[in-house]
Amino acid sequence: MTIQDEVLNCGTGPAALLRALPRDFVWGVSTSSYQIEGASQVDGRGPSIWDEYCKVPGHIDNGDTGDVACDHYHRYGEDIALMHQLGIQAYRFSVAWPRVLPTGLGPPNEAGLAFYDRLIDGLLAAGIQPWLCLYHWDLPQALQERGGWLNRDIRGWFGDYAALVARRYGDRVRHFATFNEPSVFTLFGYGFAWHPPGQTDAAALCRAIHHVNLAHGAGVDAIRTAAPSSVIGAIHNVQPSRPVDATPGDAAAARLLDAYWNRAFPEPQLLGTYPTALAPLMESAMQSGDLDRIRRPVDWFGLNHYSPIYARADSKAPLGFAWADAPPNVRRSPIGWQVDPAAFRDVLLDVHRRYRLPIYVTENGAGANEKPNEAGEVIDLERISYLRIYGGALREAVSAGADVRGYFVWSLLDNFEWGAGYENRFGLVYVDFATQRRIPKASAHWYARMIHAEAMEAAR
Ligand code: FCB
Repeated sequence: MTIQDEVLNCGTGPAALLRALPRDFVWGVSTSSYQIEGASQVDGRGPSIWDEYCKVPGHIDNGDTGDVACDHYHRYGEDIALMHQLGIQAYRFSVAWPRVLPTGLGPPNEAGLAFYDRLIDGLLAAGIQPWLCLYHWDLPQALQERGGWLNRDIRGWFGDYAALVARRYGDRVRHFATFNEPSVFTLFGYGFAWHPPGQTDAAALCRAIHHVNLAHGAGVDAIRTAAPSSVIGAIHNVQPSRPVDATPGDAAAARLLDAYWNRAFPEPQLLGTYPTALAPLMESAMQSGDLDRIRRPVDWFGLNHYSPIYARADSKAPLGFAWADAPPNVRRSPIGWQVDPAAFRDVLLDVHRRYRLPIYVTENGAGANEKPNEAGEVIDLERISYLRIYGGALREAVSAGADVRGYFVWSLLDNFEWGAGYENRFGLVYVDFATQRRIPKASAHWYARMIHAEAMEAAR
């Protein structure tokens, strides 16, 4: 059976999915610098906190690192050609701060800047919109050594970095995002010690949150000044936070996790307040005028969503609650993440009602541990099924009034999945990490057909 037959047989034919999406709806894919670029010591790139974190045994499954990753730094041309063949309309990537500013500040690295020139020019030549995110977690190690997100000066450091990037690329890039999932890298980095810098300290976490928010405000202003016609947003993960058991303690834990995970960034950035549960904890980091520095006008809301999250009470935990696994009876993706498309629909509607900004789904997708079959194909029916039902939920949300204008699959390529290393594969395109050979999976063909069908529909 060919891949195409399999795709049709699994009931995922695109015709069933066509419903009124906005005419200029954007279909894209997302990646991030540390997860795909590799070339970690090439052309003057400085070390990032992830390079250092990966060196410590036990941090990453199999001792994996992002040193080579997908070698996208050298193979970006092939990757652009793949996207072009699939009909991808937009590509969201991040700039590695330490590649363009090896010590985080001071003189820029021309070779690093030139890499993103080549990438952006190649995308534009292929008719693909570049969507540039400034920060997808790879802080320059040199800034970490000055205190990183715990040092209030980072507001200025980030503002200068944003200005450099917007001045350089603002003639060709329209869509800029400041941060990817600030709640993940702060909560995992300072609350649970699952990411660098590996701390578990509520006071440090709140300082880091506040400084990231200040840096966001400075970044928005810097981009707006350097590239006035740019369209600016930030990317937030939003997922329902649920008590793992129906007890008052777990319910309180879920509310607190909700404040950290879903609200600590969008609320100050867009509404000018911290969630009530966190406001007192922010006081020691707060200076007069800070909420105005944080709440700068933006143009879109980037929403990443995979599955609901769970909390349970734990009075001994540093944050007063614990992260919990989903209950055993739920539907799961091959790597065990809960599959619950109704939660996605509800989140889209909720974000629409709360913030009243155009929404772009900047990440959604499914992880698996797949391998090519004997014919060399990767028939990832479970990923197709996930994308199909989450696409249905997106359409339901749009029909119910949510202003959603685009959707980006995470991810173009299998890549370095943080603590899980290369085991968890999220790509539409399989990567054989030994040879760097790329194999578009069945889901890539499915997505290409869907985009094509949508484009036909929009042209009618
Ligand atoms: C998100 C991250 C992204 C990737 C996916 C699976 O939280 O933004 O880098 O790891 O999860």
